Formats: sequence, structure tokens, C-alpha cells
Amino acid sequence: MDARVGALLLAQLLVFGRQEFQDGDQLFAGFENSSLLTWPCGQRSISTRVVGGKDSELGRWPWQGSLRLWGSHHCGASLLNRRWALTAAHCFEKHSDPFEWSVQFGELSASPSIWNLQAYYNRYGVEEIVLSPMYLGASSYDIALLKLSSSVTYNKYIQPICVLTSSSEFQNRTDCWVTGWGDIQEDQELPSPYILQEVQVGIINTAICNYLYAQPTFRYDIWGDMICAGNPQGGKDACFGDSGGPLACEKKGLWIQVGIVSWGSGCGRPNRPGVYTNVSRHFNWIRMLLARSSVHRPAPCLPLVLLPLLSPAFHPRLPERT
Ligand SMILES: *[C@@H]1O[C@H](CO)[C@@H](O)[C@H](O)[C@H]1NC(C)=O
Ligand SMILES: *[C@@H]1O[C@H](CO)[C@@H](O)[C@H](O)[C@H]1NC(C)=O
Ligand SMILES: *[C@@H]1O[C@H](CO)[C@@H](O)[C@H](O)[C@H]1NC(C)=O
Repeated sequence: MDARVGALLLAQLLVFGRQEFQDGDQLFAGFENSSLLTWPCGQRSISTRVVGGKDSELGRWPWQGSLRLWGSHHCGASLLNRRWALTAAHCFEKHSDPFEWSVQFGELSASPSIWNLQAYYNRYGVEEIVLSPMYLGASSYDIALLKLSSSVTYNKYIQPICVLTSSSEFQNRTDCWVTGWGDIQEDQELPSPYILQEVQVGIINTAICNYLYAQPTFRYDIWGDMICAGNPQGGKDACFGDSGGPLACEKKGLWIQVGIVSWGSGCGRPNRPGVYTNVSRHFNWIRMLLARSSVHRPAPCLPLVLLPLLSPAFHPRLPERT
């Protein structure tokens, strides 16, 4: 993004910054009172057009964040409300000090121009990293909450996503989306100008996913809070650098986060769907933390000795350079 576009964006933000969603209450009416984690959530005001390529458009995924380690993109994240973002626990394996991290929202590029002041304005520091207490460094319970150090300003390009108490109704959906700035193929980093990528994926039943992962010989058990998504033929998947980003499906006009990009065996290979953390499984834990005013607790130290338990063929979707 060059400086001119940056200035245009700034003007647009000033215009749309106070936009209200008029039909919000009507949308909310389609949901059970207690089934949504937060409100408002899941609304985007950019109309969907058929996307030929895989580049996204600004505002299509307004909850998508770039989780940054010392200012550089490291993982994806999603916005839940003004103070909390959701991501994957394994993103913090090597660096668990909140001070080293920030989250950028409302930008299409993971590497905005230095002249794009708005991008810097839309970066939020991390005050606290809370890993799931059940996360042991392996591939289950791969979920973390980030408390941001200041309140996020919503606009047309920055909006929170919904989380539901249950996601069982999405089990057979073929029209969910995963978004991120990760590699576009196993050995190919996203090229400049690092535009957010989107890909449509289907949720794959756990039994079928286990069957696929047993073909022809490699075996990995998908269980507990893991969800598979992609397509059995391969080719549609998240990859390194996408970890922590959202797998989202639409319901009655609202976007619901069903999964968090977690692991995979390579990227987009046949019989190796992407593995995601089932967000609804952690609904009560997330609700408890969001409700908590401010209790200070150091980020837990990871039991790094457990990491070698991971199969060498089964990789976290971190950037490969780390
Ligand atoms: C749902 O919430 C609204 C507003 O908070 C309240 O007026 C209504 O009675 C609630 N409905 C149920 C079924 O709990
Ligand atoms: C996520 O976990 C919940 C609770 O175990 C389950 O009911 C739901 O079906 C799971 N979601 C998907 C998409 O499999
Ligand atoms: C998904 O498909 C399976 C097998 O066809 C079926 O048993 C199940 O009820 C379906 N789930 C939903 C939520 O539609």
C-alpha cells in the first residue's frame, strides 16, 4: 500500500468511523440469547463479490488481525471485543512475554508501507497472554486469549467476530472460510505486497478426517477439541504463518468463528486436511476471561519438554523462518 492509498484510507476511516449498524438488533433476533459470546459481532459492511483470485478485500474479514512479534507478522488472530483477541497457544512457544507482541487490525497488508500511519495507529499492544490451562505443547487445546493494552476503535474495517456456545450445526458446512497471511504453498511465502489471503473450505467430519489421516500409512488421531477443514483432494488449506487465524462460517447474516488455525501435515496435501481448534469447546473459558475485570497473572511457562512428542510430520502453522 503506498502513501496515497494510505491517505485515502485515512479519509475513509474518518467518514466511516462512527458508522452504526442499523440492522444489528434485527440480526441478533435470529439467535438464542445466551448462545452468543459477545454482542455486537460478526457483521461486515463490505459487500461480497465473487473473488477470482485469492487476494482478499479490505473489510471483508474485519476481525482478522496480524499477530506481530517485534513488529513482524508471526501468526493470525481474531478480534472478539474491544479488549480481547483470540489466537493459537503454540504461537507463543518461543516468546511468551506480552511486551514483545502486538496485533494489527484493519489492514489488508501484513507489511504496510512505513508511510501508512493508519496501520501503526491500528496496532495494539498486548497486555496479557492467557494460554488455555489445558494446553501442554501438543496439538490439542491450542488456544490463547490476548488482552490488548488499549481499547480497539471499531470502524468499517475493524469489527469483532461472533463465537457461539455450540458449533455442531456447522459440522457439514462446505462454505466456511479461512484467512491469513501465511505461505501460499508449502515452500512459497506470500509475496509482496503481502495481501490477506482467503480460501473457502469445508468442515470435515472427525471420523472421516481420521480415516483420511490414516491414508496410506501416516496416522494421527484427530480427537477432543480438534476440527478438520479443507477438502479431501487437498489444495485448499491454511499454511505456515496462518496459525491463530480464524476459520469462519456465516449463519443468518452473522459471521461465526468455528475454528482457530492450528496444525497440519504439510499444506494442502491430499488426505491431510488442516486441523483447527474447536472454539465453541472453549466457550465457557473464554466467557469467564472476558468477564473478568483485571486479575494479573503471569503467562504460564510452557512445558517445553513435551514438544518432542509431536510427530515430526505434523507441524504447527508458524512461519517457517522461526
Ligand atoms: C433476551 O434478551 C433480551 C434483552 O436483553 C430480553 O429482553 C429478553 O427477555 C431475553 N429473552 C429470553 C428468552 O431470555
Ligand atoms: C465443537 O465441539 C462441540 C462440543 O464438543 C461439538 O458439539 C461441536 O460439534 C464441535 N464443532 C464441530 C464443527 O465439530
Ligand atoms: C452431518 O452429516 C452426518 C452424516 O451425513 C449426519 O449424521 C449429521 O447429522 C449431519 N450433521 C448436521 C449438523 O447436519
